[in-house]
Amino acid sequence: MSTKKINATITGVGMYAPEKVLDNAYFESIVNTSNDWIITRTGIRERRILETGGTSDLATAALKDLMEKHNLLAEEIDVIIVATVTPDMFFPATACLVQDNVKAKNAWGFDLSAACSGFLFAFQTGCSLIESGRYKKVVVIGADKMSAITDYTDRNTCILFGDAAAAVLIEPTEDSAIGFKDALLHCDGQGKDYLYMKGGGSLNPATHETVDNKMHYIFQDGKPVFKAAVVGMADISYELMQKNNLTGGDVAYLVPHQANLRIIDATAQRMGVGKDKVMINIDKYGNTTAATIPLCLVEYYRAGKIKKGDNLILAAFGAGYTWGAAYLTWGMD
Ligand code: UT7
Repeated sequence: MSTKKINATITGVGMYAPEKVLDNAYFESIVNTSNDWIITRTGIRERRILETGGTSDLATAALKDLMEKHNLLAEEIDVIIVATVTPDMFFPATACLVQDNVKAKNAWGFDLSAACSGFLFAFQTGCSLIESGRYKKVVVIGADKMSAITDYTDRNTCILFGDAAAAVLIEPTEDSAIGFKDALLHCDGQGKDYLYMKGGGSLNPATHETVDNKMHYIFQDGKPVFKAAVVGMADISYELMQKNNLTGGDVAYLVPHQANLRIIDATAQRMGVGKDKVMINIDKYGNTTAATIPLCLVEYYRAGKIKKGDNLILAAFGAGYTWGAAYLTWGMD
């Protein structure tokens, strides 16, 4: 029996960002804020909003984009993992709706809930399914319709979030030089009080009272989350680099979760990675939760900025708390 290790590598990407744009001027017109505050405190200039439909529509559009660009047939897909905190419904899983939309008749799938770390957790899971040897084509989608759970009267949160989805196809490769290398992932429920949506679940099912108390919206205590995110993202990325004997010079790109430009800058600094090697699109999309990291990958790849053999460090921090980093070597031309 062969003991050759199966490597998992990204062989296709797709994305979808809705057409409707909300710029900072719009928020100046609905809450007490300013373009200047938003740009200097977060780096965000605009975000996209899905006017009709749910997260499955975002995810389906991203997957269709991937299928078209990479000639992937629906029946070839073995597994669909959708990372999201805004599923269309509690059940069935968004992955089932996506499966039906593209008619992936041979696929099974599930949703994975890890907030802003959702794509990283799903990517590790997808790579493990490939490495197990049991599956050949796993699709991992990060998708969130954050506008569905955003309180547009709360200036602390409404300026931050947007809607989008992006997808990657993971396949086995015998080329040990490319693909998924390593990941360090964590969760710590001590963070549960700082970033949450309390209503609608089994603890606080929807009632008139939960609606009146705005419990179906995102709550965030920004300062502690900011501090934890800077430390969490920077330390885990640095630890992953040390574990894999990487210096800043070995890393082509840091691909950070896009929650705040100041968090991103602090992480890059700690890793010794120059600003030109940090993927950024928070200015265009805001925080799209599970979609931010794959959205960066798609845009930078399509712009010809990522080359085969490039070492990437993906890093995220989010509600839970959840956080982590993944190291991969890009395998697509
Ligand atoms: O993606 C998942 C993980 N989430 C994160 O990583 C987000 C982490 N947190 C953050 O990015 C930042 O904490 C925020 C961007 C959310 C807030 O920035 P901050 O610099 O931490 O501001 P703050 O919450 O400490 O608020 C400072 C001031 C406050 O006014 P006072 O109390 O000093 O008078 C806020 O009321 O800024 C005020 N403020 C605003 N002012 C204008 C809060 N939001 C706004 C706003 N426009 N939109």
